[in-house]
Amino acid sequence: MDSRGTVFVSLALLDTNDTAVKKNSSQNTSVNNSSKSNNAMTNKRRILLVDDDADLLHLISVRLKANGFDINAVNSAETALTRLSVFRPHVVVTDLRMPGMDGMELFELIQQRNLRLPVIMLTAHGTIPEAVAATQKGVFSYLVKPFDAQTLLAHIEKALLQSGEMEQPEGDVSDRQWRSEIISCSHVMENLLQQTRAAAVTDVSVLIQSQTGTGKELLAGAVHKASARRDKPFMALNCAAMPEALLESELFGHVAGSFTGAHKTHTGLFQAANRGTVFLDEIGDMPIAAQAKLLRVLEQHEVRPVGSTETIAVDVRIIAATHHDLAEKVAQGTFREDLFYRLNVITLELPPLSERREDISLLANHFCQMLSARHGKGSLRFAPEAMELLVSAPWPGNVRQLLNIVEQCVVLSSTPLISRALAERALRFKPDRLIGLNQAREQFEHDYLLRLLNMTEGNIALAARLSERNRSEFYNLLRRHGLDPAQFRKVTE
Ligand SMILES: Nc1ncnc2c1ncn2[C@@H]1O[C@H](COP(=O)(O)OP(=O)(O)OP(=O)(O)O)[C@@H](O)[C@H]1O
Ligand SMILES: [Mg+2]
Repeated sequence: MDSRGTVFVSLALLDTNDTAVKKNSSQNTSVNNSSKSNNAMTNKRRILLVDDDADLLHLISVRLKANGFDINAVNSAETALTRLSVFRPHVVVTDLRMPGMDGMELFELIQQRNLRLPVIMLTAHGTIPEAVAATQKGVFSYLVKPFDAQTLLAHIEKALLQSGEMEQPEGDVSDRQWRSEIISCSHVMENLLQQTRAAAVTDVSVLIQSQTGTGKELLAGAVHKASARRDKPFMALNCAAMPEALLESELFGHVAGSFTGAHKTHTGLFQAANRGTVFLDEIGDMPIAAQAKLLRVLEQHEVRPVGSTETIAVDVRIIAATHHDLAEKVAQGTFREDLFYRLNVITLELPPLSERREDISLLANHFCQMLSARHGKGSLRFAPEAMELLVSAPWPGNVRQLLNIVEQCVVLSSTPLISRALAERALRFKPDRLIGLNQAREQFEHDYLLRLLNMTEGNIALAARLSERNRSEFYNLLRRHGLDPAQFRKVTE
């Protein structure tokens, strides 16, 4: 365990050929009979390990115990069954192929007794299809031997999170303050928020990987607020927005005179966030050279400002976010694998808005209230038919897109009730590239005036009345948009 209490940092690669393994020749005794320990007295998470390979069993036990887990390791599924009620594990890690009862039979028996106990299967290359089939039957996940310790630990953490067995946060974050900015009522979000809170208290690195506009930045802030670091700084940096030449100095700082233009010493983000959280947004866009430097900081917990010969110890929790598939970037060679594993101890995935349609009306009403106040429009609301349309829309841009659409509706609505027609127009409006709100407003206004003039056949008095503007305001509007009402008048023969 490192100084921050991060559980994975000190782990070396776990390999079945590890020569440091002590032989345990006994085929019938458990490697560590920790079931003798008083479970009620310890807060440790309990892992039941089952494998007929005594070496592997011993090695995994040592690694997991070093990371704070209470381990009961047994060499057969039959023995494992007898330990379930005594040891009361939170997770079972079992080999798939074993003489006698195999891992799958063990899983089925566990399922019959306790549906919530996650089972992780260990498998050799030859039995991958069986392991995949096992996950379809409800096995939590599988690992192919040989695997590294970080991967196993990540699987265990995820299993604990899913089963709700991670430690609850202490003190005053037990209320909902930490998540107060996240509006949602859907089950998928509730599950995610539970995982978020459980992850927050562990102090491990968190990777938020989700589509654009789903609320990654908001969630990163919530992780910080739910963590023990909540009273310390939360510093964010968008790696995609920062020119490569400045990134290193932004992250790690620089000393005066270290490069042209470096007039003053600059404190980097890591130092400024000491004892708090650093949020690295758009991490998938970080240049490969900067990735190497970041990895070094994560491994050594110290930074060396640009131009300095001294290193400074830093204690920060890292949250990274990306809309890219980082594993794919690793496969393509554009993202470092070692950095990926270090950042990805726990992954949180925000569901797309289309997978949580229950949230749409809640969010739309919230944004509508907030934005009508901001734009001085009194209290606007959506007509039921308009809301119906929003709830069934595709939302490729997720919550951010919903926010933009609501803003368009609020700005352009001339009545307290936002009509379906207005919502429809806002939704149909699809610029090829994202344009600014002013430009969007202009385009929408232009369309609106065209429609109005068509409807009224160029009757200014009527058009002005319908748009709730006086005649001179209306003429000004037409002039600004270069519209001539005469062109809309029907020619009378
Ligand atoms: N559940 C939510 N409740 C309230 N507001 C939300 C929610 N989710 C997102 N938002 C708002 O939607 C906007 C987009 O959210 P955010 O910036 O966190 O998304 P993102 O995933 O980081 O997007 P991008 O990939 O574009 O950077 C923000 O204004 C945020 O406050
Ligand atoms: Mg973002």
